[in-house]
Amino acid sequence: MRNIWILCAIFIFSSCAKDVPVPGDDVAQGPTPLNIQAPFGLPQLTIPQNNPTTLEGVALGRKLFYDPILSGNNAMSCSNCHAQNFGFTDHENTLSTGIDGIAGTRNSMPLFNLAWAPALLWDGGATDLESQVLAPITSPIEMHEDLTNALDELNAHSEYPALFEKAFGTKSATSFLLMKAIAQFERTMISADSRYDRYIRGDAQFSEQEIRGMNLFSDMNKGDCNHCHTLGGLFTDFGYRNTGLNLEYNDQGRFLITLNESDKGKFKTPSLRNIALTAPYMHDGRFETLLECVQHYNTGFQQHPNLDPALAFSVHGRLSQTEMEDIVAFLHTLTDSAFIANQAFSAP
Ligand code: HEC
Ligand code: HEC
Repeated sequence: MRNIWILCAIFIFSSCAKDVPVPGDDVAQGPTPLNIQAPFGLPQLTIPQNNPTTLEGVALGRKLFYDPILSGNNAMSCSNCHAQNFGFTDHENTLSTGIDGIAGTRNSMPLFNLAWAPALLWDGGATDLESQVLAPITSPIEMHEDLTNALDELNAHSEYPALFEKAFGTKSATSFLLMKAIAQFERTMISADSRYDRYIRGDAQFSEQEIRGMNLFSDMNKGDCNHCHTLGGLFTDFGYRNTGLNLEYNDQGRFLITLNESDKGKFKTPSLRNIALTAPYMHDGRFETLLECVQHYNTGFQQHPNLDPALAFSVHGRLSQTEMEDIVAFLHTLTDSAFIANQAFSAP
């Protein structure tokens, strides 16, 4: 008897409510949830509740990421400075250069495993992926586009209104939805299948040199790279540090955000995954090769007042030439060829 009442109630409800989803109608059913799982070796991840990942949202974000429509001259997309075959960084320019040919002050950053990053940019100036999206679009030294203009173009486009509707249930593109879609796509860009990962899983072999390099990487009295670029998982602890690149920094890094003297010359510790693909190196792209980077930590760093203690107390010249080459050999095992070939992240 009770069941009959429930059935009646459902019937009454569904016959009155005109907007009840009709099976088979994609739009009415809403976007398809996409559950992003942390792969083996990476920590748990949290997706923000106000922007759940969906198949349609990711597809829209991917199209936008590759679409020059978001730039002032309709000639530059995110992918110009974030190219997949270079781990989504810019191989062409030491300092990123926008549509007007004006160079910025920083080297482009690789894009992967961003779902785990507590903050973005070299100085941590953006605290989530959503809020980072508009900066390159509107920056006069990057895509130099007027936001209203970009949204008008999207709304007048032959395909975008339908794609926004599929992803977010509304045909009209807004800056919020643009931010959400691109952030969703970026969260799916996960890299955790390098030869190092396969070695850890027992599916690949390391040469003797690579094993020596891995040990030097985490030896406190040798490379001590592990101190900041945590071995395994994300290969960074996301800390801000001064690595003694200069005695006087033109770009004061983290200081620009916090205005604390003690943050002068500090930059976000980057992941070392895919590092063999992402030259040139450092926030200003000053080093061309990985060996130059290791040399910097061995003998090149300068005694800036904020120099990280891990370096300030390390012995100059503690690594021999062979040991530096061993570390470089290990860094090459962090290349994830499957990630850079993954069609899901290529231009649609
Ligand atoms: C003109 C080159 C250029 C273009 C175009 C560009 N970027 Fe960037 N991107 C950079 C540079 C340079 C940085 C580092 C900036 C900084 O630290 O201030 C960066 C940093 C980032 C970061 C931070 C990564 C991290 O690990 O913290 C994200 C995310 C990002 N870009 C996404 C995008 C998206 C999305 C677009 C398109 C809407 C885009 N970028 C367009 C050059 C560019
Ligand atoms: C004290 C923390 C710390 C230690 C120790 C450390 N790094 Fe770094 N590493 C950083 C930071 C911070 C940056 C970014 C610095 C900048 O651009 O100003 C960086 C940048 C790099 C880069 C360039 C990354 C890119 O995307 O441009 C490489 C390569 C690198 N480190 C390798 C190593 C190796 C190899 C070791 C060990 C020999 C090591 N690091 C030790 C903190 C550290």
